[in-house]
Amino acid sequence: MVNPPISIPLVKVAMPPRELLMPALESVLYSGMLAEGEHVYQFEDQFAHTFELPHALAMSSGTAALHVALLLAGVKPGDEVITTSMTAEPTNTTILQVGAVPVFADVEVDNGNLDPASVEACISPRTRAIVVVHYAGYPAQLDVLRSLADRHGLMLIEDCAHALGARFGGQPVGTIGDFAIFSFQAIKHMTTVDGGVLTMRDASRLAEARRLRWFGLTKGVPRTEVDIKTPGYKYNMHNVAAVIGKCQLAGIGELLSRHIDNGRYYDAALAGIPGLAPARFAAEAQPSYWLYTLLADDSDAVERCLAAIGVMASKLHRPNHYHSVFEPFRRPMPALDRFYQRLVHIPCGWWVNPSDRERIVDALRRG
Ligand SMILES: Cc1ncc(COP(=O)(O)O)c(C=O)c1O
Repeated sequence: MVNPPISIPLVKVAMPPRELLMPALESVLYSGMLAEGEHVYQFEDQFAHTFELPHALAMSSGTAALHVALLLAGVKPGDEVITTSMTAEPTNTTILQVGAVPVFADVEVDNGNLDPASVEACISPRTRAIVVVHYAGYPAQLDVLRSLADRHGLMLIEDCAHALGARFGGQPVGTIGDFAIFSFQAIKHMTTVDGGVLTMRDASRLAEARRLRWFGLTKGVPRTEVDIKTPGYKYNMHNVAAVIGKCQLAGIGELLSRHIDNGRYYDAALAGIPGLAPARFAAEAQPSYWLYTLLADDSDAVERCLAAIGVMASKLHRPNHYHSVFEPFRRPMPALDRFYQRLVHIPCGWWVNPSDRERIVDALRRG
C-alpha cells in the first residue's frame, strides 16, 4: 500500500502573522539601521523579561552563544568538558572549537538526558565544565547537576536550544547553570531565521561577553580610540533578526502552551499502550516539548504506522559519538544505546490540533 503524502510534519517553521511581521520588517529594512542596534537591545530586554532571565545577550546563533559560554567558563585547550552525545552536533563541535576534550557521560534511559551518576563518574582533575542539554525540551536533573558542579568547582553550562519555556523546580531553564544558551534556528520553538541568546548568572562577565561577540571591541567607544586586548568574533545579532524576534515574542506564550498541551495529552494517552512508553522525567521538570519523545520496542514500526496516516515520526539527531570527528572520545554508553534504539519522536508542536493528536493516538493504539 502506498502511504498518503505527509500532512503532519515532525517540525515546522513558526512565523508571526504577516500583518504584524511585514510592516515591521519593511520599516527596519529601509531604516538605514541594519546592524546591531536599538532593536537588538529591545529584543534582549523583552526576551529576558519573558523568560525570567537575569540578562540576555543576543547572538548570531546558538552555536556562537555556546562558543562564547565555553570561553567565559574558562575552558582551555586540553581541559575536559563532560557532555552528552545525545544532542545536535554544535553542543560538542564547540567543545572541539576551544581545543577541549569532550567526555561523553551516559544518559538516562527514559529521556536521553545526562545521567548525573555517570557525570560524576566522569569527573577528573582535568574537568573544567559540564554541558547539559535539555534534550527535546525535557529538563535534565538540574538540581543534582548544579550541586555536583558546586561540589567539584565546575562550571555548569545549560544548552537550552530545545527547551525554551521549560522549567525545573519552578525555575526557568537557563537560570540554574553558570551560563546558558538558547537557539532561534529555523525549526526551534521560536526563530529569528538564525540567532541565539547567551545568558549568565554573573553580571560582571557581561562586558567581556559583549566584547567577545564583536571582534573584541567595546561598543560605544569611538572606533578610532578603542583598543582590542583579546580577539573576539563576529557573533552579534543584527536589527533585522531582532525585529523578527520581537514579533515572535508577541505570540510565544500561546505557541509554547500548544506544545505543552499536546505533550501532556500524549503523556496521559500513550501510557499503558503495550510496547510504547512516553519519556519519563523528574517530578520537578516541566518540559516544553519541542519534540515529543516516545520510546518503543519497535521504533521502525511506529514510523511505519504513522506514515500510513500521513504523519511523520522519526529519530531526529545522530548521537554525536557516531561521527568520525568524535571517534577518539567514544566510550561505552549502554543507556544511550538502549534509549536511541527505542527512540521515535512524534509531532507535538503548535501545528498539531486536538483531532490530529487523537488520530495519532488511535493509530498507535491499533498498532
Ligand atoms: C541542542 C542544540 N544545541 C545547540 C544548537 C545550535 O543552535 P544554532 O543552530 O542556533 O546555532 C542546536 C541547534 O541547531 C541544538 O539543537
